[in-house]
Amino acid sequence: MPAETLEQLVSLCKRRGFIFQGSEIYGGLQGTFDFGPLGVELKNNLKRLWWKHNVYERDDMEGLDASILMNRYVWRYSGHEETFVDPLIDCKTCKGRFRADRLKDAACLKHSKLHPGECEGELTEPRAFNMMFKTQVGPIPDPESFAYLRPETAQGIFVNFKNVLDSTNRKLPFGIAQIGKAFRNEITPRNFVFRVREFEQMEIEYFCKPGEDEDIHSAFIEDHVDWWVNECGLSRDRITLYEVPSNELAHYSKRTVDIMYRFPIGEEELEGIANRTDYDLGSHSRDQEKLSITAKVSPNPHSTERLTYFDQPNNWHIVPYVIEPSAGVDRGILAILTEAYTEETLDNGETRVVLKLKPALAPIKVAVLPLKKNEPAIVETAKRIKKLLQSSGELRTVYDDTAGIGKLYRRQDEIGTPFCITVDFDTIGREEENGLKDTVTVRHRDSMQQERVAISDLPAYINDRI
Ligand code: GAP
Repeated sequence: MPAETLEQLVSLCKRRGFIFQGSEIYGGLQGTFDFGPLGVELKNNLKRLWWKHNVYERDDMEGLDASILMNRYVWRYSGHEETFVDPLIDCKTCKGRFRADRLKDAACLKHSKLHPGECEGELTEPRAFNMMFKTQVGPIPDPESFAYLRPETAQGIFVNFKNVLDSTNRKLPFGIAQIGKAFRNEITPRNFVFRVREFEQMEIEYFCKPGEDEDIHSAFIEDHVDWWVNECGLSRDRITLYEVPSNELAHYSKRTVDIMYRFPIGEEELEGIANRTDYDLGSHSRDQEKLSITAKVSPNPHSTERLTYFDQPNNWHIVPYVIEPSAGVDRGILAILTEAYTEETLDNGETRVVLKLKPALAPIKVAVLPLKKNEPAIVETAKRIKKLLQSSGELRTVYDDTAGIGKLYRRQDEIGTPFCITVDFDTIGREEENGLKDTVTVRHRDSMQQERVAISDLPAYINDRI
């Protein structure tokens, strides 16, 4: 059974060092979280798997790491200055601030069982609240010298379309992938890392000829659902597809399908896959009147470039269409933790908490545990095995002798370590000759089964299973 409540995950994450509240010792900063020693490993593993699948295993993808601060005009012509708004209302009585379209998710500050508007409180009319954070650029405070922190990584890709095209000589269709931070001044950040003000996105902008867009869109939806299931371990029956209705589509989208996951807080968006048409490249282009752009864009006197592709066989310039899979890293982590979290009752009646993470995602791959910490030959051998493993590929390995073996196993189960290696008297050949010298016990996290493996075989044995 996956986690049933958010509290189970919040408690495990804090206790074991996955995720902490941001700026905690000063009372926190709402909507920010810090990833601890295990959290950063889990996050890096998720991003690595995504990059491997979407960049290395394809022939049609390039990578990019664009800056977070961008010229402010990017956000005018992307449409974000005008449309990246949420409807904000205030309660004159309790002084609460709420998203007008999500009152049912919020509670009155005075009557926690009532939603805003259900109490005696008087609500203001909704007003548009732009969610982009602003920051000053340069030393002189001047109202014109500001930049926004990017609310999506996508625009860094669009404004670099020509640079990537010219430097790689790609032919359509091809994509550009990017993983990076995004910032949104959410009115009500909530539900742990589900809705935060600073988060990471894994995005692809996939450029194609108009007319090819719909099939490519469908292929990405199918491929990315499979990826969440096969590589990240999410259950297919906890995933649904949401066809975003036309009145809810973002200003750039012709069609968007959201991959929804059943989190402990209910079914919510994990990844959005949009058909952005030629809106963004068209909107960021100069001389738009000379280009054939199907989307409705504002005239752009500031851009110095036409973001087009020369279609040699037909001898014309086209503004490519774009398919955009956009996933949140933090929501991915929350889904993976939800799915992996398991409480089991053992034969002796004890409860075992185990994170059944895919081995490739596990923060720690191997724990090397000495059966006796005051037996020098056992300790020396265990430390030698740790060194051997940590220099074999990318196996994050730990050594732990701070408790009895049973307790050490439980600790590793709780953080999802797939393999525990125990070094015992047989390993060092102390017992009568039984053929077990230079072998160790490998214990498997999920089944708790143990088997004997030769030390020299360990790197290949573990790497094969990860
Ligand atoms: N470039 C398209 C775009 O940004 P989006 O649906 O607004 O689309 C994409 O965001 C993904 O980013 C979402 O599916 C979600 O996983 C993640 N995301 C968006 N806002 C978030 C927030 N406030 N906190 C955490 N993740 C968020």
